[in-house]
Amino acid sequence: MLNTQLRGVLEGMPKAELHIHIEGSLEPELIFALAARNNVALPYASVEDLRAAYAFTDLQSFLDIYYAGASVLLHEQDFYDMTAAYLKRAEQDNVRHTEIFFDPQTHTARGVPVKDVIDGIHRACQDSPVSATLILSFLRHLSEEDAFAVLEEALPYRDKYIGIGLDSSERGNPPEKFARVFARCKELGFRLVAHAGEEGPPAYIETALDVLKVERIDHGVRCLEDPALVERLAREQMALTVCPLSNVKLCVFPEMAQHNLLELLDAGVKVTINSDDPAYFGGYMNDNFIATFEALPLGLSHAQRLARNGFEAAFLPEAQKQQLLAEVDAYFASLAF
Ligand code: ADE
Ligand code: ZN
Repeated sequence: MLNTQLRGVLEGMPKAELHIHIEGSLEPELIFALAARNNVALPYASVEDLRAAYAFTDLQSFLDIYYAGASVLLHEQDFYDMTAAYLKRAEQDNVRHTEIFFDPQTHTARGVPVKDVIDGIHRACQDSPVSATLILSFLRHLSEEDAFAVLEEALPYRDKYIGIGLDSSERGNPPEKFARVFARCKELGFRLVAHAGEEGPPAYIETALDVLKVERIDHGVRCLEDPALVERLAREQMALTVCPLSNVKLCVFPEMAQHNLLELLDAGVKVTINSDDPAYFGGYMNDNFIATFEALPLGLSHAQRLARNGFEAAFLPEAQKQQLLAEVDAYFASLAF
C-alpha cells in the first residue's frame, strides 16, 4: 500500500495534463443524459450495461466503444457540458494546466459542424479556472485527404486551438501516412504531437520525430525495445506523455507492476503522467499517479520530477511555465516530513 503521506503529496501537487482526449472524459452517466436530451439510441440498456462493456483487450476494442459513446454529442452545448465536467474533475486533482485533444472527424462524420465542436469545448475552457488549451487531432485510420479536409474546415477557428495531434488505430497507420498534412500544419505555426509507440513499433516513434517533426510523443512506451532510440529521446529531452492506467486497460502491459515508467525515468527520458481517456480507463490524474506509485518503487523525488516534467513539456509561454515550475518547487520545499 502507498503510504498516506506520499498519497497526500501526489494528490496535492500542482500538475499539468498533456494527454487527455476530451471524448474519453465522457462518463457513462453523461452519455445517457445526452442520449436522452438528443434522442440518440444507444446499443446499451443502462449505465451499468455500458460500464460492463469496458473490458478491453487492445486499442481497437476500446476505440469501437469510445466512438459509440461520442455519438451522443450533437450540439455546441453538449461539447461545453462534456468539457466543463472534465475541467471540474481536473481542478479537483490540482491540475493547473491541461492540453486537451479533440477529434473533429468523429463528429463531422455525423454532420456536426466543426464550429460547434470547437466553440463548445473552447467556451468551457474559458469558463474554467484551470489553464486549458486545445489540440486538434487527426484520426489516423482515415486518409490524409480527410485530414486535409477537416483542417481546411477548422482553419477559420484557428485562434481557438494551438496544436495538431494524431490518434486512433495505430497499427498499420504509420506517422508518415500524414507527412504532407503535418508539413502544412508546421508551416501554419501549430505545435505538433502524435501518438506513437503505444501499440505500434519503435520505428513509428522515429518517423513521428523525423517525418512529422513532432515536439512530444504521446505514449511512446515501446521505445524501450530500441536502446538507441531511448538514448536519443533522453539526449533530445523529448517528452513522452505516458498514460499508465490506459496502458494496463488496453493490455500494453499485463499489470501496473510491469509498466516501464521507472525504467524510462532511470534512462533519463522526460516522462509525464496523464489520463488519456479517464472515463474509460478507471481514473483521472490523481488516480493515475496513485496507481503508478502503488505498483512501482517510486518516491518523493520521482513525484517532483514527474510534476516538473509535465510543466516543462507544456506548450506554455515561458513566463507562465516558470511560474508553475516555481509553484511545484515551493510545494515540495514546504513539505514537512
Ligand atoms: N483515441 C483516444 N484514446 C486513444 C489512445 N489511447 N490511442 C489512440 N487513439 C486514441
Ligand atoms: Zn491518447
